[in-house]
Amino acid sequence: MFKVLLHKSEDYQGLPEATLQALLKSEAACHADHDSAADVLLRLNADAGGLSLQNANDPRATATRVDFLDATLQYRLRTSGKRQGLGKAIGLDKAATGQQVFVVDATAGLGRDALVLAHLGCRVLLLEQSPLMHALLADGFSRGNSEGTPHMRAVLARMQLLHADARQWLASVASPDGERPDVIYLDPMFPPRGKQAKVKKDIALLHQLLGSEADLGSLLQAALKVARYRVVLKRPDGKLPPELPAPAFWIGDKPAAFAVYVNSSFSSTR
Ligand SMILES: C[S@@+](CC[C@H](N)C(=O)[O-])C[C@H]1O[C@@H](n2cnc3c(N)ncnc32)[C@H](O)[C@@H]1O
Repeated sequence: MFKVLLHKSEDYQGLPEATLQALLKSEAACHADHDSAADVLLRLNADAGGLSLQNANDPRATATRVDFLDATLQYRLRTSGKRQGLGKAIGLDKAATGQQVFVVDATAGLGRDALVLAHLGCRVLLLEQSPLMHALLADGFSRGNSEGTPHMRAVLARMQLLHADARQWLASVASPDGERPDVIYLDPMFPPRGKQAKVKKDIALLHQLLGSEADLGSLLQAALKVARYRVVLKRPDGKLPPELPAPAFWIGDKPAAFAVYVNSSFSSTR
């Protein structure tokens, strides 16, 4: 059984209740065909802090929200660069001076990686298939824009959010007049491995809501058909399922390893 309960307090000033209820219905519809071994009971909180999601079976569970102004995320922004980790995997160290790299984050999630890329100067289109995750992201954008510094608002202005399935979006862009992204970034859900305790709480909650990617191979192939320069696949453990093609190279190590597939070289644009 999959169920999300709504817990709306008086001080919530966002979407009307009918819209929130419709959201829960459409999220449930996405799960109607999926046989789940475990019962999933989540709670969508709508309160003064905006929208957040919580494990309804665990009263001590912290709520997960999209918070672009979160101190840990802000620290990550201050310590991320074009020549390391995600920035290097995307190819920002190879792009021509002044070139604004257009990245499609095809699996947006909580929008953290997309924020890092926008902070590094990229234009980022975020695709999110889940109605609830999309609503959490939209809520994060709205709070980030109203409470963020002018610098943060400028970063957020480089990000665009779309409620879409990546496969459908990629198929539409593969047409001759679609605008092809420079790089496509994939960070799909994988079955949790290793000790459960090591899985971050936010990610464990996303697993409950979203399950794991069933056919990563076809998503990767669709992305490879469309990306001008690269497709970057995040694999925290640095390993790929055997059915996937080998990448051109890897950037980073556990817990932030990226498999990089190269369609053409950034340096060919210089
Ligand atoms: C692991 S999370 C991504 C986390 C993200 N990189 C971040 O920094 O917060 C994966 C997300 O991709 C979304 N997703 C998976 N397959 C998708 C698809 N085919 N189209 C759009 N979104 C998808 C899931 O709903 C989930 O929210």
